[in-house]
Amino acid sequence: MRAVLITAPGGPSVLQPGEVPDPVAGPGELVIDVVAAGLNRADVLQRRGAYPSPAGWPEWPGLEVSGIVSEVGVGAEGVPDGSGFGGAGGFGGAGGAGFAVGDRVCALLGGGGYAERVAVPAAQVLPVPDEVDLVDAAGLPEVVATVWANVFLLAGLRAGETLLVHGGSSGIGTMAVQLGRAFGARVAVTARSAEKLEACRELGADILIDYTTSDFAERIRAEGGADVILDVVGADYLERNIDALATNGRIVTIANLAGGPAAIDLGALMAKRGTLSATSLRARPAKEKAAIIASVRENVWPLVENGTVRPVVAARFPLAEAGEAQRLLEGSTHIGKILLTV
Ligand SMILES: NC(=O)c1ccc[n+]([C@@H]2O[C@H](COP(=O)([O-])OP(=O)(O)OC[C@H]3O[C@@H](n4cnc5c(N)ncnc54)[C@H](OP(=O)(O)O)[C@@H]3O)[C@@H](O)[C@H]2O)c1
Repeated sequence: MRAVLITAPGGPSVLQPGEVPDPVAGPGELVIDVVAAGLNRADVLQRRGAYPSPAGWPEWPGLEVSGIVSEVGVGAEGVPDGSGFGGAGGFGGAGGAGFAVGDRVCALLGGGGYAERVAVPAAQVLPVPDEVDLVDAAGLPEVVATVWANVFLLAGLRAGETLLVHGGSSGIGTMAVQLGRAFGARVAVTARSAEKLEACRELGADILIDYTTSDFAERIRAEGGADVILDVVGADYLERNIDALATNGRIVTIANLAGGPAAIDLGALMAKRGTLSATSLRARPAKEKAAIIASVRENVWPLVENGTVRPVVAARFPLAEAGEAQRLLEGSTHIGKILLTV
C-alpha cells in the first residue's frame, strides 16, 4: 500500500509517498481502509525527528483517520463488556461496540495514519454517524478525546462554570468551544485575529480576547476568573494563567508552543486553591486510550450524532501533498482541522 514516509528529519519536503507492507488485523484489532487522515502538530515534531511513533505503531505519521473497516481481528467483533477497557480475552475489544467489515468509522492512532490502510485496536475506534461526512470525521478523534479527557474527565468542568480556551480557533480549540458550550459552560477564547475570534463566536464562545491587543488575564479577572483553562501555550502563559484563575480553578496544559521550562509562584496558586496539570494523549497506554474512547462514545458521541458538535475543517489535501498540508498547519492561519484525503 501507499503511505507518506519521513525520508529524513527536516522540513515539509521530506514527506514523500512510498510503498509499505499492508497491515494485518491482530487480535482485538480492525484494519481500516483510510478515507482521510487528520493532521496534528505532533506530526510536525515527528517529521523533524523529535517525536517518533510509540512502539508497536508504524513509523510514518498520522494520529487519526476515518474510513471503512476492511478486516476484523479475533475479539474485535465486540463482545459487550461495558467497561471500555477491552473485550473478550483481554485483547482490547470494542467495549461492547461491535464492528463489522464495511462499517464507517474513525479512530485514534499512535501513528501510521498517513497511509491507505491502518490496523488499530477496536477499542480506539468510533462509529461515524450517517449525518457526519466521512472525510470530515477524520478530524474528530484526536480533538474530541483530548478535550474530553482534559477539560471534562480531569478538570471536571461543570455547567455554569467559565472555561478559557487558548488558541480557540485551533483544531483543539474549535472542539473545546463546542463541548464547553454544549455542557453549559460560559466559554472564553484567545486568538490572534478578528477572523479567528469571529469563528469562535459562531461556534458558541461568549468572551472573545485578541491576545495581541489585550491582556487575557485582566479580561478574564474582570469576568470573575476562569474555572478551567485549557492551555497550549505553556511557559509564557503560566503566570498569567494562574492570575486568570477563579478560586478552585484548574489549569490543564496540553502543549507548550511557547516554551516548557517555567518558574511557578506556588503562593499565587495556593491563594487560588488552584490545580495545574499536564497530560499527553499519545503516550498513554492502550487501556487508558480505550477508557477515554469509551467515555467519549457514551458522553460526547450523542452530541456528534445530533449535530450539536461537529468537526470544523479548514482544508483538505490529497495524501501525496502531506508536506503542503503541514506547511499550512505550521503557518497557523487555519481555523479548525487540516485533513489528508486518500
Ligand atoms: N497533550 C495532548 O494530549 C495533545 C493532544 C492533541 C493536541 N495537542 C497539542 O495541542 C496544541 C493544539 O493542537 P491543534 O491540533 O489544535 O493545533 P493547531 O490547530 O495548529 O493550533 C495551534 C494554535 O495555537 C495557537 N498558538 C500557537 N502559538 C501560540 C503562541 N505563541 N501564543 C498563543 N497562541 C499560540 C494558535 O492560535 P493563534 O493563531 O490564535 O495564535 C493556533 O490556533 C498543539 O500543540 C498540539 O500538539 C496536545
